[in-house]
Amino acid sequence: MVNRFDEHIQRFHTASVKWDGMKQRFHTDKALPMWVADMDFAAPEPVLEALAQRVQHGVFGYTYRTEEYLNSIRSWLFRRHRFTIDTSWIAHAPGIVPGVGFIIDALTQVGDKVVIQPPVYYPFERVIRNYQREAVYAPLAFDGNRYHMDFDALERQFQSGAKAWILCSPHNPVGRVWTEDELRTAGELALAYHVTVISDEIHHDLVFKRYRHTPFASIDERFKNISVTAIAPSKTFNLAGLQTAVVIIPNPDMLIKYRKVLQKYSMEGANTFGALALEAAYRSGESWLDELLDYLDDNLTTLRRLLAEQMPEIHLIEPEGTYLVWLDCRELGLSKEELDHFFIHEAGVALDEGHLFGEEGNGFQRINLACPRTVIEEAVTRIATAWHTRH
Ligand SMILES: Cc1ncc(COP(=O)(O)O)c(C=O)c1O
Repeated sequence: MVNRFDEHIQRFHTASVKWDGMKQRFHTDKALPMWVADMDFAAPEPVLEALAQRVQHGVFGYTYRTEEYLNSIRSWLFRRHRFTIDTSWIAHAPGIVPGVGFIIDALTQVGDKVVIQPPVYYPFERVIRNYQREAVYAPLAFDGNRYHMDFDALERQFQSGAKAWILCSPHNPVGRVWTEDELRTAGELALAYHVTVISDEIHHDLVFKRYRHTPFASIDERFKNISVTAIAPSKTFNLAGLQTAVVIIPNPDMLIKYRKVLQKYSMEGANTFGALALEAAYRSGESWLDELLDYLDDNLTTLRRLLAEQMPEIHLIEPEGTYLVWLDCRELGLSKEELDHFFIHEAGVALDEGHLFGEEGNGFQRINLACPRTVIEEAVTRIATAWHTRH
């Protein structure tokens, strides 16, 4: 049966960071680009139709976010995540990373400590530094198969005076979908030490069927009061280039401070296409998303099987969510530089190097599964062939 996600869409010559940007980043354009976290799939038809209709109209003057736009977000969060919000809690960001920066700016002071849990999405550290705050670490605990929150490490950082904690939920790159219990335990610690929780839930919709995402703020009224939740349709529906994200701030004082920061940077305006695409996706993208999740699940099964057959030296850390898979390559016995060189120049597969995510990522690589299945087959063949050529 033909599956829409099997289609190979040419992405070279579209100013794609993942494809065209490979040359600058990896000094080659011959590798399979499986690094940046976007998908090689077209967005859902209702989104394409809404955008096409708007293009037909032809006038792209200033725009604002409508009640329908805000309601589509509220309704999506309730339908998919049983998270009840009020539309008055919604604020805007031109992306999650800038949004995290604005939250840090609004709710902490220069010099404050902000906790992250490496290995973790590396722009967090950069943003903390750019706002002249100090990144402090509560690394995840790893038992060789699965990652866990290290509550003692988290408490030590909270105790040492950290003012905020960036929670990555689900967690990129290790693919954990935190359980309600884990979030509750961590949330109680944040409450006890008066720590603001910045919950980056950009991957919330991308969770495999066996798992369930719990929005941090939905767990307890008290958690709502100390947290900011950042979401976007960008990962879910492959709309990252439209630079439209959503920040949910139930605490009115925190919301006022956030809005002041948006004013400070003149960032309140809406992108016509981003707003339209968000609304169309949240209103009519649900069946497409369910198909996508099945396809990603099958891609994961394929990767797991092919690695076991052709390259058992690489251990796949089972993801519970996201379309990113954390590969434990330590058994290859290569140094950090040799491992990077092996993947990009010997195998011809462009991955995100594990050490980018913190020193805990040494010996790991992150692969992006949001591509046609044949690309995954080709990638494993390339990796195994390159490895066997060496030996
Ligand atoms: C955890 C996490 N946060 C944020 C982003 C990027 O968000 P944005 O493009 O909206 O800044 C990513 C993209 O990979 C991510 O994995």
